[in-house]
Amino acid sequence: MILPAKPARDSATEMVQVVLPNDANPLGFILGGTVMHLIDIAGAIACHRHTRSLLVTAAVDGLQFLHPIKVGDLIILNARVTCTFSTSLEAQVDVYSEEILTGKRQLTSRAYLTFVAISQDGGRRPVPPLLVETDEDRRVCEEAKLLKRTFQQGQEQRRSHACHSLWCIAEVLHADAIRHQIGDQERANTLERKGPEAGTVAADRRAGPGRIDPVGGGRCQRNPVRCASERATSPVPGGRSRTR
Ligand SMILES: CC(C)(COP(=O)(O)OP(=O)(O)OC[C@H]1O[C@@H](n2cnc3c(N)ncnc32)[C@H](O)[C@@H]1OP(=O)(O)O)[C@@H](O)C(=O)NCCC(=O)NCCS
Repeated sequence: MILPAKPARDSATEMVQVVLPNDANPLGFILGGTVMHLIDIAGAIACHRHTRSLLVTAAVDGLQFLHPIKVGDLIILNARVTCTFSTSLEAQVDVYSEEILTGKRQLTSRAYLTFVAISQDGGRRPVPPLLVETDEDRRVCEEAKLLKRTFQQGQEQRRSHACHSLWCIAEVLHADAIRHQIGDQERANTLERKGPEAGTVAADRRAGPGRIDPVGGGRCQRNPVRCASERATSPVPGGRSRTR
């Protein structure tokens, strides 16, 4: 069954709360762990709204705290779905501080989280495709796809190194067959979403990561503050390092 595509604006989520002394370290700044907790919740809400299913957090991409948020400030979290795959999806969460008296806002963190949709019996569930509406949304989603491919390649390498028994080989073949089926669904979703030009994007991706122009330069735009250090360490050309 092909699920209908949904735009990110339908699930976009804003969470606002005041930073209280209970959330703070001895310097009077909100604890990093509290911010991470709120990022997880905000990202999950956007993804719950998109998928209308149960979810688990599978991964959080490298997260930095650019500015402290002090007791008495507001912490604002904006979450939106950036890309969908077969049973998983990515959300971007931007965190801002806001001074109550002046209204001054500052971007303090940006994170990308991957969630996996889970059915009532604990299996995986297909997620509705994302209706990509702007060039910027398309760019961010292409970045996510590139990261996912790197993740999958890493997993395949690990699996082939660990696979010595007949049982293990049978499992790998079964997983590959399922992946092919899921791939067909994904291709159908992509074509439905993007129309005929989707074939061009797929051809570019087959030619290798370096060929996808918006990704190479675009990765740093996701988190401009981290750009310089990422260029040095990332396996993605011009990209951010991944922790998955
Ligand atoms: C996340 C989890 C469901 C992945 O299980 P798995 O058997 O390794 O993954 P699957 O092979 O079923 O993959 C399901 C999807 O998730 C994606 N995925 C799994 N782990 C991922 C990771 N670390 N980063 C990005 N995507 C990931 C897969 O690529 C696949 O995507 P697709 O179907 O959209 O193409 C499982 O490891 C888990 O339950 N972890 C604990 C989650 C949890 O408790 N979170 C709370 C915070 S700790």
